Amino acid sequence: MSVRHFLSLLDLSAEELGRLIERAIELKQWQRQSRLYEPLKNKVLAMVFEKSSTRTRVSFESGMVQLGGHAMFLSPRDTQFGRGEPLEDSARVMSRMVDAIMVRTFEHEKIERFAAYSACPVINALTDLYHPCQLLADMQTWCEHRGSIRGATVAFIGDGNNMCHSYINAARQFDFQLHIAAPAQYQPDAAIVAAAGERVKLFDQPLAAAAGADLVVTDVWASMGQEEEQHEREKVFAAYQVNAQLMAQADKDALFMHCLPAHRGEEVTAEVIDGAQSVVWDEAENRLHAQKALLEFLVSD
Ligand code: CP
Ligand code: NVA
Repeated sequence: MSVRHFLSLLDLSAEELGRLIERAIELKQWQRQSRLYEPLKNKVLAMVFEKSSTRTRVSFESGMVQLGGHAMFLSPRDTQFGRGEPLEDSARVMSRMVDAIMVRTFEHEKIERFAAYSACPVINALTDLYHPCQLLADMQTWCEHRGSIRGATVAFIGDGNNMCHSYINAARQFDFQLHIAAPAQYQPDAAIVAAAGERVKLFDQPLAAAAGADLVVTDVWASMGQEEEQHEREKVFAAYQVNAQLMAQADKDALFMHCLPAHRGEEVTAEVIDGAQSVVWDEAENRLHAQKALLEFLVSD
């Protein structure tokens, strides 16, 4: 069978994703019980980071060690990536030496090309287009707090960015309704929205998008690589803050999620992110468990 990659949520079937979330919850319990489980003994994960990271690096590295394997951090500063070696060559070489490769980069097309030349599984650890690993953690977090997300309403407020695109794919795969409110010039990709059909609805007003929502999600206004647009974006996004007024539109039992890092006072108020409806610390922790389930699925014999 040809090698499986995880470049977007669409690379796994809905059934596979469902099983993966269940497995993540089980692996979390085993971790809590200090149960030794090392299916990836002697396996190596290469981690290529062309952008900064805290959660992704720590969760993948810890996860590999906990599964009995090893993780190797590679930055463009000290590899031939940063000196222009064709990524097709890097993919062919690295994938002969390791068992999986995790890549965080800019253009999504780069990870697709890399995967096409890799003999081992490639995992998208964030591109400008998608952040699928974060959605595994978000879906696990929802499931732990509320059970099945099927039929629920999720409101994504803010930039039509990589997180927004992954939420659109999640709406398809996990079968929930997604309401998106983004400024006109920062709408999500039209083709990605269209492919989701009835599951996604675009709103002009953030408060309208949040009405009756079971889960409210936001992300930074300026993503990595857009730092110089920060001030301009702060003006455009000012009305898209997730605050107490917006949360009051949602269902009274609504949860709040944010992939982090967060900017309190910008896309979310401290009152909301540090409040009773926020599950961001579970969400962050679940990066570890969800990615262990993913690594087990892609790498173990
Ligand atoms: N949420 C997330 O991917 O965080 P990092 O950028 O710290 O990895
Ligand atoms: N949209 C953010 C997510 C960070 C985890 C970014 O790409 O910087």
